[in-house]
Amino acid sequence: MRRISPVLQQDGVDPDLISLLKTILAACREIAFRVSQGELAGVLGSTLSENVQGETQKKLDVIANELLKEVILETGVVKAISSEEEDDIVPGNPHGRYLVTFDPLDGSSNTDINSLIGTIFSILPADPHKDASDASQFLQPGSAQVAAGYVLYGPSTMLALTTGKGTRLYTLDKTYGGFLLTAEQATIPKYTAEFAINMSNQRFWEAPMKNYIADLLKGKEGIRGKNYNMRWIAAMVGDVHRVLCRGGIFAYPRDLKDPSKPDKLRLMYEANPMSFLVEQAGGASSTGYQRIMEIIPTDIHQRVAVILGSKHEVETCVNYHRNST
Ligand code: AHG
Ligand code: MN
Ligand code: MN
Ligand code: MN
Repeated sequence: MRRISPVLQQDGVDPDLISLLKTILAACREIAFRVSQGELAGVLGSTLSENVQGETQKKLDVIANELLKEVILETGVVKAISSEEEDDIVPGNPHGRYLVTFDPLDGSSNTDINSLIGTIFSILPADPHKDASDASQFLQPGSAQVAAGYVLYGPSTMLALTTGKGTRLYTLDKTYGGFLLTAEQATIPKYTAEFAINMSNQRFWEAPMKNYIADLLKGKEGIRGKNYNMRWIAAMVGDVHRVLCRGGIFAYPRDLKDPSKPDKLRLMYEANPMSFLVEQAGGASSTGYQRIMEIIPTDIHQRVAVILGSKHEVETCVNYHRNST
């Protein structure tokens, strides 16, 4: 099985970017180790602080954030970072050619129940004309990403990575200590009969989503003509991983439960990197009204509706939205 560096070299990836990716992965290996130790490492439970999103931070949110922040800024090739757990961007080397934005720990509510969690990251090119402390340098569409990936801390620790040459899957070999290529090209089947959505929000969704899911639930007897199955891991990283492995549609649509926060997932460090991975695996990703990677961000912590996965299913869902406007 092949190690990660030769694969990236073969894909023609810039050596600075390869070393940055390897640094991120070294931090993720450390997180994986601590996660696997659980209560023994004293990493479970909550802190007393809140992040900028108003969420109580878990100990693991903070530990993962500190680890990633430190090693990424030390690489010298990064001009600034932005994280779910940092209110503002953190400047690095003014001459760095890359920006990194990340969700240090996705699936925080799963930490204390020994369930799936992960780290999501996105790498953007830095604009040499902007100041390292200028947050506006991050406000680039997802289509500008040069790399994106996640590390899933599951029964195996796995990496999904794209640099725009397809989506590759790697598995952490704990005896050797590095990630080995275990799927050269993840391919999301075009058709599916599996959906992932938090059904408890159903009454708060917009009409197109309500209608779309209602038709799925009618199964064989409805206009979709087949029975669907439902899955929900409550960590985007786990749900997207299933989609990359065997297809499906994952949605966190707009809901009006809390009208001050109609969308849940964050564009820069959740929706964009996952959309890049999904599109590079032959899937699609949309808000229902627009391709996610074409959104021009206005804020580093901006939230967005997400509908991604098997192409035909996403297109069908988008049609419900289109027909409603
Ligand atoms: P995070 O733990 O990084 O704040 O993200 C949690 C997100 C996402 O991973 C997941 O899909 C969603 O929250 C789960 O939401 P519900 O609590 O509605 O299931
Ligand atoms: Mn959070
Ligand atoms: Mn998250
Ligand atoms: Mn998080």
